[in-house]
Amino acid sequence: MAENCRICNTLLTKFLSLGEMPIANAFLSKCEIDEEEYTYELAAGFCEDCKMVQLLEVPPQEKYLVPQEDEGNRYLYFASTSEHMVEHFSTFADEVTERFLSDDPRIVEIGSNDGIFLKNFSDDVDVLGIEPANNVAEVARERGVESINEFFSTDVAERIVEEHGDVDVVFGANTILNIPDLHDLMDGIDTMIRKDGVFVMEDPHMLEILKKTAFDQFYDEHLYYFSVASITNLVRMYDMEIFDVKKQPTHGGSLRIFIQRSNGPYQVSDRVRAVRSEEERAGISDAETYRAFSDRVQEIRDELLAFINAAVDDGKRVVGYGASSKGNIVLNYCSLGADVLEYIVDNTPAKQGTYTPGMHVPVVAPELFREDYPDYALLLAWNHAEEIMEKEAEFIEAGGEFVRYIPELEVL
Ligand code: TYD
Repeated sequence: MAENCRICNTLLTKFLSLGEMPIANAFLSKCEIDEEEYTYELAAGFCEDCKMVQLLEVPPQEKYLVPQEDEGNRYLYFASTSEHMVEHFSTFADEVTERFLSDDPRIVEIGSNDGIFLKNFSDDVDVLGIEPANNVAEVARERGVESINEFFSTDVAERIVEEHGDVDVVFGANTILNIPDLHDLMDGIDTMIRKDGVFVMEDPHMLEILKKTAFDQFYDEHLYYFSVASITNLVRMYDMEIFDVKKQPTHGGSLRIFIQRSNGPYQVSDRVRAVRSEEERAGISDAETYRAFSDRVQEIRDELLAFINAAVDDGKRVVGYGASSKGNIVLNYCSLGADVLEYIVDNTPAKQGTYTPGMHVPVVAPELFREDYPDYALLLAWNHAEEIMEKEAEFIEAGGEFVRYIPELEVL
């Protein structure tokens, strides 16, 4: 278990432990549920020096990127299952085209998944995706997005520059927080971007996690929880600076951070200062803030368990909605299993028919839910509440109720 900060080597302050956890996205087939699952202690620490929040124990990547004999790596997350995410990346692609592309336009995306972002660019833009999971990269290729099937590294960056040339924009959405060695990442960015190039990263924002007590953002694949404070310190080590930030509603509250070489062409936006002050007001640089967060997490667990146990005692039928990684953290942390949750609804075909890691709750298609509505649906994918509630308006009309627990327990 790491005791020192992976960015600056300072001793970390441990503030959260959610106990022994399986891999959050390791859904099991029926024949796998009797086998022993890999677990690790899900715990997080705060660096009082560079302000980076990070996982203490990092499970090896092959635990969640399932290696397959003939297909390479497999990943169960298809970004395009959410219509809102499809729209989100299409809008950002327009912004990139307007703001950052040169006459010889070239973009690299790290963690390009099924091509949800890169597919939006016109043919005259040279786009290249880096995606270690074969199954999702294959979908991207079908959409015309050239994809390299590897983990990103400085070596990959050097090869890209040799074969394609340097780039205007490197983008990574919900990926940078997965990369164990952020120094290797930054070396790679430095290798790839032009003098006037930009690096744009978008990940859940530590400020929002604090505000919402969104403890289920902590899981195996999320090694880091970023803020303007911590990223400023990281990129400064590479003679780079943040010149803009934009808050995003995605993944429960994310921050898009725009980075350039120090004294680069873009003026530093007022938004950077504004978000930085908001972070300070919320105590982002203060170890005490994280200890108070951990206390609130335990309170949410107690309230959620009290609610569900009372509902079940009352003869109510309770299911989960959205077999998300985040949901699996909550189920395992609160020990919510198939004895209280009948099933979990999910629209991802690859997840249907499987069982959740650790708690083994069956995952079913929305059609089954719609055939015979339960009384309560626990919003395990609370970050998609709006989209799910729109889709399931009939459940609500039929007297069903959605329940959420982030930012606090609420029957909607
Ligand atoms: P996701 O947002 O990807 O979260 P995580 O990163 O924690 O896994 O998970 C959302 C899950 O919810 C995903 O498996 C798809 C599912 N889902 C539905 O079943 N119906 C919907 O309408 C939406 C938007 C998502």
